[in-house]
Amino acid sequence: MTKTYFKKDFLWGGAVAANQLEGAWMEDGKLPNITDVCVGISTNEPGLVWNNNTNKWEMKLDDKKTYLSHEGIDFYHRYKEDLKLMAGMGFKAFRTSIAWSRIFPKGDEDQPNMKGLKFYKDLFREMRRLGMEPVITLSHYETPLYLLTEYGGWGNRKMIGFWENYIRTVFNYYKDDVTYWLTFNEINNMYRRPVASAGILDIHPADTSDPLTIPDKIKWQAYCNLLIANAMTVKIGHEIDPSFKIGCMLSCSSVATYPYTCDPKDVWGALNLQRISNFYFGDPFCLGIIPGYVKRIWREVGYIPDLTDEEYDLIKKYTVDFFSFSYYRSGTYSKDVKNAFDTGGITGKDNPYLRYEAPEPWKWPVDPEGLRYTLNVLTDRYHLPLMIVENGIGLDETPDENHMINDDFRKLYIKEHLIQVNEAIQDGCDVMGYLYWGPIDIVSAGTGEMKKRYGFVYVDRHNDGTGTLERSKKASYDWYKEVISSNGEKIFED
Ligand code: BG6
Repeated sequence: MTKTYFKKDFLWGGAVAANQLEGAWMEDGKLPNITDVCVGISTNEPGLVWNNNTNKWEMKLDDKKTYLSHEGIDFYHRYKEDLKLMAGMGFKAFRTSIAWSRIFPKGDEDQPNMKGLKFYKDLFREMRRLGMEPVITLSHYETPLYLLTEYGGWGNRKMIGFWENYIRTVFNYYKDDVTYWLTFNEINNMYRRPVASAGILDIHPADTSDPLTIPDKIKWQAYCNLLIANAMTVKIGHEIDPSFKIGCMLSCSSVATYPYTCDPKDVWGALNLQRISNFYFGDPFCLGIIPGYVKRIWREVGYIPDLTDEEYDLIKKYTVDFFSFSYYRSGTYSKDVKNAFDTGGITGKDNPYLRYEAPEPWKWPVDPEGLRYTLNVLTDRYHLPLMIVENGIGLDETPDENHMINDDFRKLYIKEHLIQVNEAIQDGCDVMGYLYWGPIDIVSAGTGEMKKRYGFVYVDRHNDGTGTLERSKKASYDWYKEVISSNGEKIFED
């Protein structure tokens, strides 16, 4: 048997996000967050219209669309059953997020919604009771909608105060239940998808038919506000409980952006893409440094940073305890094509050296070595413990006549990625854990559909909203259980 190097206390498990599975979108005092008005965050048509009387954006859902996330997989009411299924695989950790608008429905209230607080208290305690360490994202594309429509979201400095109130509340309330906290999910997507990913809205728009265009100056102000908020989270968290471990969470498929050729233009372009897709947030979060190329962009777009000396110091001093990230696939940079982008990361020209890709219709390329590369780049740059909090494969699956799904492709995908994680550990990377994305079928973040299934557990719900919501195990369920119980040795079988 080949030797594995996963630590004894390696955090094996899975990850989800409140907005993709809880449902109960307007229950027990909760109000909408930004993703509640989007059928997938990649949408070009968020449910927002300009009201000429109030001169504000407001929610307007499209009755021709199915907002599957509103019911999700009804985790809000079925979490005990679902956590039991996760514990059945031997999960050591389970990642989910707090929907900010369950705690502060509009976002600017002084007092929290006790029903929301209680829900997560019960949830986190149940995780612990079943032996799973909660890994909790403070904001996973879940900025309360009111904060966007009323204040413009993160482009407004007032957000820092609303955020402080929120994090103080949850840190104090859950300090006996949670040790691992993640600040903003994939916040580095701010640059390309500012509204849904980063909770930013232009409330004085030049074009009132277009809520998605955000002027550069607003984006960069949001960036500064988010850097302050992140540092403040680390500071306040450690004041409340010095044993808290507070990490950032970035989408790191873009770290593995390979130059398509050795043409210096491709090499330079790939580096630039890594910077502006990734390191522009990673460096301030982990090193306390705002990179020179960011300041160059500021000069070019005419943005004058609204940051005091104290705030620069805060960013410098309060860097994160660990680095968590998602990795789905690698990409290429070629000067000849314009790179596109979705929840899996950057897409450019097809990489002819990769052996396979996921089946239709999503066809994400599969590059396990890209994960080893990413872990090594992050280690060389930040020298921090790393937690993989998203890696997985979405497939279109239908149970066979025996009600079974034989998801061999999923097993292969995980096995090959874990083999590369094992290599990276030998390279010297300090890997804390592997949380598979979507261990139970949930609503897709990018497209808002159920058809794109990541789970070890199948959920009977479909794109048109029909289905019994019944849960059943796929073939990968018992396999992943063995991966965990063998502390990874299983990946070298077969
Ligand atoms: C990440 C997000 O970008 O990718 C998750 O953090 C998301 O929320 C995951 O679900 C996979 O993307 P998708 O679009 O396939 O759900």
